[in-house]
Amino acid sequence: MASKHFLLFQITLISLILAVSSFPAYSQIGQLSPYYYDGSCPRLQWIVGSNVWAAFQKDTRIAASLLRLHFHDCIVDGCEGSVLLDDTIDMKGEKNALPNRNSLRGFEVIDAIKADLEKFCPGTVSCTDILTLAAREAVYMSGGPYWAVPLGRKDGITASDKSANEQIPSPIEPLDNIIAKFTSKGLELKDVVVLSGGHTIGFAQCFTFKRRLFDFKGSGKPDPTLDTSFLSSLQSMCPNRDASNTNLAPLDSTTDKFDNYYYASLVNNSGLLESDQALIGDVRTASLVNSYTINPMLFYNDFAASMVKLGNVGILTGQSGQIRKQCGSVN
Ligand code: HEM
Repeated sequence: MASKHFLLFQITLISLILAVSSFPAYSQIGQLSPYYYDGSCPRLQWIVGSNVWAAFQKDTRIAASLLRLHFHDCIVDGCEGSVLLDDTIDMKGEKNALPNRNSLRGFEVIDAIKADLEKFCPGTVSCTDILTLAAREAVYMSGGPYWAVPLGRKDGITASDKSANEQIPSPIEPLDNIIAKFTSKGLELKDVVVLSGGHTIGFAQCFTFKRRLFDFKGSGKPDPTLDTSFLSSLQSMCPNRDASNTNLAPLDSTTDKFDNYYYASLVNNSGLLESDQALIGDVRTASLVNSYTINPMLFYNDFAASMVKLGNVGILTGQSGQIRKQCGSVN
């Protein structure tokens, strides 16, 4: 009888091990784990979720802003919360770097989450993990996929304005440069196409695409690849005067909803940024754009997998880095 129980115990143990190891491959990467804070901060997911939800109720665009904040954290010297650091006398950080200044949003949401977490589990959860979780919540609340977020990153102790200027892709640089910026971080060509799908939510200021509307590459004419009715609607949103530079245009026409419409826009020559439209103009990326246009589930699954890869770029774990008490400054 005892040995029967032992056998049952062994089978249960083996099934448990198999179940854990067959969890999608992207759930556990390197030293990170979705269960990292389960013991030390059991309320983490709830605190992040409720704060993002409250912010989203007031302003649905916050979802896009949080997703972008996470991207800008990771693409510059890795996901170590550097984008959240305020400038100091000794350090010109990333917040005020050219691509970020008067553009990045959502810092106050991350600060509010951190303040709540410091009450329930002080000194436990890194700011970069908060950002990563907030980005997942943001995508999910906008109607996009849900995925298990590997956790356990530490915060870095420095940020660099120079790195941000050099490493964040520009909407007017050639696709080859953008691809190189991704691959230099261990990401792949596919991740460029998939993660650009983040532009299914949110807005861009007119100055980021205006040359397409009036004087494309010095031609004195609009970008010939732009769909003509899309062009005229953009011209009315962004009249040819400096005063319109900070007006906002939606990145795709279903801007509050995380869907695959972004890719359909590219196929219809209605991508907003030059860097978006370039994805359909290049043989290396066009077939994937077409696949995502017709298959939203494929996009959702690939997006979740690429987000996990993005969240693994240049991370600090174990004894490296620290858990900041406040996200805007090092301890
Ligand atoms: C591939 C290269 C990329 C380029 C050139 C690029 C460029 C831009 C630009 C110029 C804006 C508008 C900024 C402004 O108006 O101030 C923007 C917004 C945005 N980007 Fe990207 N981006 C890229 C990749 C990504 C990725 C990988 C993600 C996320 C996974 C992302 C998420 C977003 C979101 C959600 C917004 C809207 C933010 C808001 O409304 O607050 N972008 N991007």
